[in-house]
Amino acid sequence: MHKLWTSDLNTGIEEIDVENRKIVDYINRLSRAREDGVRGELGDVLEALLDYVCNHFIFEEHMMEEADYEHRVSHEKVHELFAKRLADFRGRFRDGETPFDEVIGMLVHWVDEHIRYDDQMYAETVQEKIEEQGGETWVMGVMKKLFG
Ligand SMILES: [Fe+2]
Repeated sequence: MHKLWTSDLNTGIEEIDVENRKIVDYINRLSRAREDGVRGELGDVLEALLDYVCNHFIFEEHMMEEADYEHRVSHEKVHELFAKRLADFRGRFRDGETPFDEVIGMLVHWVDEHIRYDDQMYAETVQEKIEEQGGETWVMGVMKKLFG
């Protein structure tokens, strides 16, 4: 299985799209490792994903807050659940399980549902904010606040 990034997944906010595309890379990395039977790769990807979601979600949540996005709380709940499920998978991996199929399935679902619909929705509000406040500078401002 090889998952491709398609243009309908773009939110139009470059920083977010670059980040979101990484999930597709992880899916492909896992698919290859599953085919080749490289169990350790699953552990590595789960670690990388947990790291990734911490940073990526903070960024998204900060943007939603700044843009005063009305569904921010429910969006954040979905993030929290996703991170929790990743941590559960890591626990199972450490206990000796190799749930390649389940992890890949969850990530594919994430791309097809969360990125395609949920991220798209808040991105519209953020886009409006960007236009209101003079282009990229607003995103840059949020990033500066976060990463200095
Ligand atoms: Fe999100």
